[in-house]
Parts: sequence; C-alpha cells; structure tokens
Amino acid sequence: RVPTVGIDIGGTKVMAGVVDADGHILEQVRAETPEKSKSPKVVEDTIAELVLDLSDRHDVHAVGIGAAGWVDADRSRVLFAPHLAWRDEPLKDALTARLAVPVMVDNDANTAAWGEWRFGAGRGEDHLVMITLGTGIGGAILENGQVKRGKYGVAGEFGHMQVVPGGHRCPCGNRGCWEQYSSGNALVREARELALAESPVAYGITERVGGHISEITGPLITELARGGDAMCTELLQDIGHWLGVGIANLAAALDPGGFVIGGGVSAADELLIDPAREAFKRHLTGRGYRPEATIAKAQLGPEAGMVGAADLARLVARRFRRAN
Ligand code: BGC
Ligand code: NA
Ligand code: ZN
Repeated sequence: RVPTVGIDIGGTKVMAGVVDADGHILEQVRAETPEKSKSPKVVEDTIAELVLDLSDRHDVHAVGIGAAGWVDADRSRVLFAPHLAWRDEPLKDALTARLAVPVMVDNDANTAAWGEWRFGAGRGEDHLVMITLGTGIGGAILENGQVKRGKYGVAGEFGHMQVVPGGHRCPCGNRGCWEQYSSGNALVREARELALAESPVAYGITERVGGHISEITGPLITELARGGDAMCTELLQDIGHWLGVGIANLAAALDPGGFVIGGGVSAADELLIDPAREAFKRHLTGRGYRPEATIAKAQLGPEAGMVGAADLARLVARRFRRAN
C-alpha cells in the first residue's frame, strides 16, 4: 500500500503528485509544459525532474502518466498529440529507462475517469463517461470499471468530433472540432478576440491585464465571471452550452448513467455546468421518454488525472512484482 506518483501532462502544465492507496495527495509539484516547438525529449526531462524532486522526500515505487495524447493499445507509445510535439513517441520505454521503476502510460482523460470512478464523482457508476475541459477536450468511456479503448487504443477522442462544418481550425488538422467550441483554448480565444476588437464588453478584462491581451487566461476569465463580469459570464455560458450539446450527442451514442466533467475549466462550477445541463436537456434525443444521465463535476477537480494515473501505476507495479 505504498504511495505512488501520478503525473498529468496537459497542454499548459505538468502536474506530479505522490498519492496514497486511498487517493489522497501527499505532496504535489508542477511545472509548465515545454513549448510545442521543443523536442519530446524536453517533456521527458520535465517529467524526470519532477519525479526526482519528489523522490527526495518519498519512496517512489511506480510512476503513472496521464498524457494529453493518443496512447496505443499496448499503452506504450503516444501515437499523436494535438497539443504536444509527440508523434509515435515511445514514451513508456523512454521513461522506464530513465526512472528505473515500473511506468504506466495512458491517455489523460482515461486516467481522470479512473480517478473519479475509484475515489470521486463516478463511484458506483458502471456506465461512466468522463469529459475533461482543458487546453482541449479529453474523453473516456468506463464500463464496469474498464476503460473502453477501441481496437487501436484511441477510443474516446470526443474532442475531435466535428460540430461546426467549416468551423475553427484545430491542431488535429481538421476544422470545427468540438474542442474548438468547448475548452479552455476556446474560452481564451473568444475573450482575446473581443478584447482585440476593443469591444466595450471587454474593457473590464483588458484593464485587468493592463492592455496585454495575450495575458488573458482561462483562470482569469473564471475569476472575473465569479465577480460578476458580464462578458466572462457569457463566454462560460457559451462553453457550457456547447458542452451540453456534445454531451447530448454522446448520450445518443453511448447511453451512460452519468457524465463527469473535469479539467481546469470545470473550476468554473455552476457557471459552466448549469448552462451545460440546460443545453443537454434541450438537445437530448427522445427527451421526456427516456431516462436521463446525470451530469456531475469531477470531485477530484483538475487533480483527477494525476490521482487516477497514480492509482493505475499501483496496479501495474503489483503485476510487475508478481511477475518478477
Ligand atoms: C487530445 C486528447 C486529450 C485532450 C485533453 C485532445 O485534444 O486529442 O488526447 O485527452 O486533448 O488533454
Ligand atoms: Na481518452
Ligand atoms: Zn480536432
């Protein structure tokens, strides 16, 4: 029952934490995600540094990685990542060689779903769909405690379903992907556009960043919305609306008992979830004639992916011990 390390690699930050067998975080450290233009090796360096730092104060027996990318069916290579430099990257082997402990690699939304199912809002739900709103949209399908991976490992990439034909460009290479309308990136893009257009509705946020529009971030928008800023509230409503529309589509396809919403943007709580619930109710096919899935906020918050990765690493380490 020794603690393990969980790492969540997102588009903007890398979170690493020592997590005990009950899902409690004993210590947490973080770093900025190296820029996309840097080589994948630099991301590995960042991970190794964080693990080394934690090893100073904790016995690290296994490391679990939740990566914002498309992890293959063997949970070994990252095939592609819209928000990181990875293209067919042998992440598991590279890190195992450097860290000298068992390493588990999975998609970040998959580890978040696992964390919420084990310790959070998904407990007891045998048909769970997880949505994480961060730089992009992450997705995971968990049935009876099993992550559904598809044939090649990349099931659950909901963020790249087209919702607007001919819409905004997405780093995946397509246009109009769901994550271009309901994510942290979408939120920031819209706020900056309004600020750049010098719309009076954006005066509040522009003043706040001293005119430096590039300093507008998701957390700042959420903070201002909480304080009653009309533009920021409206932008979160838009993101929430698109979230609800997408969830209604997912309910049509997958019919889960519950959706759990996590990722950085979920910190906006009811400012995001209420409009999502409304849009979901309004767009669900067969509404009024079918049971409706619940929509809950991730109980582990933005830490869900990290906690889930640590817990999955524990399982991998146990198997490793039995085999050796
Ligand atoms: C990626 C996913 C990832 C998600 C959230 C998406 O753009 O395709 O693999 O889970 O962003 O980080
Ligand atoms: Na996934
Ligand atoms: Zn896309």
